[in-house]
Amino acid sequence: MRIIKATNYSDMSRKAANVISAQVILKSNCVLGLATGATVLGIYQQLIDWYEKGDIDFSSVHSVNLDEYVGLPAEHEQSYRYYMDHNFFHKINILSENTNLPNGLAENIDEECRRYDALIEKLGGIDLQLLGLGHNGHIGFNEPDQAFEKTTHCVTLKDSTIKANARFFEHEDQVPKKAVTMGIKSIMQAKRIVLCVSGITKAEILKKVLTGPVTPALPGSILQMHPNLTVVADAEALSLL
Ligand code: F6R
Repeated sequence: MRIIKATNYSDMSRKAANVISAQVILKSNCVLGLATGATVLGIYQQLIDWYEKGDIDFSSVHSVNLDEYVGLPAEHEQSYRYYMDHNFFHKINILSENTNLPNGLAENIDEECRRYDALIEKLGGIDLQLLGLGHNGHIGFNEPDQAFEKTTHCVTLKDSTIKANARFFEHEDQVPKKAVTMGIKSIMQAKRIVLCVSGITKAEILKKVLTGPVTPALPGSILQMHPNLTVVADAEALSLL
């Protein structure tokens, strides 16, 4: 495990963007595993800036996102498709047909999960998986559980996750209760993982995830077993380590 220490959020964003940019420059047709949420917004903004300056070309890149809510159409402002299009994809030259998220509107969600796993395999696996960390230790929407779920699956979100996401909706009861997420196996099979963490509110969970026992009760703890994990975190998030 490699820990890259950043001074603050914008420094973390730039340092993480540097790793992603190096991946895209070294392998122009790479497969990027992408995340949504607040933590990674600054990373996308930094990559957009470098794209606009002519430093990165995404025209041969494929992307697979970690997760999507069940029941929200792509045009819904809180769907992860909308987030990715508006915060990243529409601002760079990635081809829209090369961008992938689970379809949360699929009639048969189990089939959709199998389609998504097959798609990742067909693309040759993920070269670099970007991750944020939930306050309860979740990665993607792999919530604390009795066992690690391996493949893409449908999850019922924990109350704490619904509450954390309520800030993006008008009312808490509008937050979808289910999501489709890549499983731990798909995430762990990525050739490189970049875990980004910022802020004092994540300090305790980051310490547990990186130094505590590996357990499905803390899904992010499995990352300790990954041979090529880079943690990019700011001073506040690293303050207990
Ligand atoms: C979303 C995702 C989640 C977030 C996590 C942290 O695609 O994968 O695991 O990374 O909930 O979210 P923020 O960055 O908003 O604290």
